[in-house]
Amino acid sequence: MNGLQLLGTGRCLPSRRVTNEDFARTLDTSDAWITERTGIRQRYFCAEGETAVSLAVGAARQALEDADVQPGQVGLCIAATFTADRRTPALACEVQAALGLPQTALCLDINAACTGFVAALETARCLLLGGQLAGPYALVLGAEKISSLLDFSDRSTCVLFGDGAGAAVVRLDPQAPWAAVFGTRGDGQVLHGGGPEDPYLAMDGRAVFRFAVETVPVCIRAVLDKAGLTLDAVDHLVLHQANSRIIHSIAKKLEQAPARFYENMQRYGNTSAASIPIALDEMRRAGQLCPGQTVLCAGFGAGLTWGGVLLRA
Ligand code: ACO
Repeated sequence: MNGLQLLGTGRCLPSRRVTNEDFARTLDTSDAWITERTGIRQRYFCAEGETAVSLAVGAARQALEDADVQPGQVGLCIAATFTADRRTPALACEVQAALGLPQTALCLDINAACTGFVAALETARCLLLGGQLAGPYALVLGAEKISSLLDFSDRSTCVLFGDGAGAAVVRLDPQAPWAAVFGTRGDGQVLHGGGPEDPYLAMDGRAVFRFAVETVPVCIRAVLDKAGLTLDAVDHLVLHQANSRIIHSIAKKLEQAPARFYENMQRYGNTSAASIPIALDEMRRAGQLCPGQTVLCAGFGAGLTWGGVLLRA
């Protein structure tokens, strides 16, 4: 079915750990409120000198090592991000320079917010299938420095997010199952930021919650239908890590035990495009994600966008 095989993963978190209690010292909030509403207990923010690029490079280096792939074998580097340090050059180009990826590699960023990593996997698969890349391996990254868009006096947003990067090395696998489903509901009100009139991330939390619980279960079923698989045939469900209650509501709609869905927002908060590759890396290094297993990844977020794909470990 010409799917993607996951050969290696990596992750990089910045050095400044901020707990819910730390926030409660400067904001009218509490560990109880944040934990009950979101599941989040701590997150990491970039300190002086740490950037989206430095996180991406750290994660990418680990992923190449884990995959036992040399930089010179990479034909494609895609970074999913909505918080690149600069508009240009692309974050992926800075990764190319830092890691010594070949000059024949195609390096580009994509912005699909929290759906970014899933969209980058489908983009990588299509480009690999196209047969025009100079190398058989794709380095797919999710890297975010969301702290640069946060208003740290707005308790309704700043406690939800974190900085971080995750990376995956993939290649085509003719035996691996594949299906991809995406959706977009263009909306500049529900979740937005980073513009001249709205420098900080702002959202209607309840609307985002409803949107995610409505679209993601439908998306997951559509991915499975396309691939001719049942939920039982999927070993792991890895969703964007925005909020534990969103994941539990999605599990309920799909009539699945919540434990089937990986969760790590407790440790990292919502790291947008980085959340799924960070989760994949944790699972792989903990021995939870084994060779030959099938993973269904689904993202949702600003745009509004959503998407789901399959991966073969
Ligand atoms: N601490 C204490 N109280 C707070 C905080 C806080 N950090 N934030 C908001 N509140 C207050 C509000 O001011 C409100 O007070 P009021 O009733 O006096 O007006 C009260 O808590 C309830 O606020 P709601 O927004 O209605 O709370 P809700 O139960 O909906 O939870 C939350 C808010 C956690 C944001 C929830 O709506 C949610 O998780 N939504 C999804 C958000 C999300 O996942 N976004 C990211 C996905 S997309 C992406 O990743 C870019």
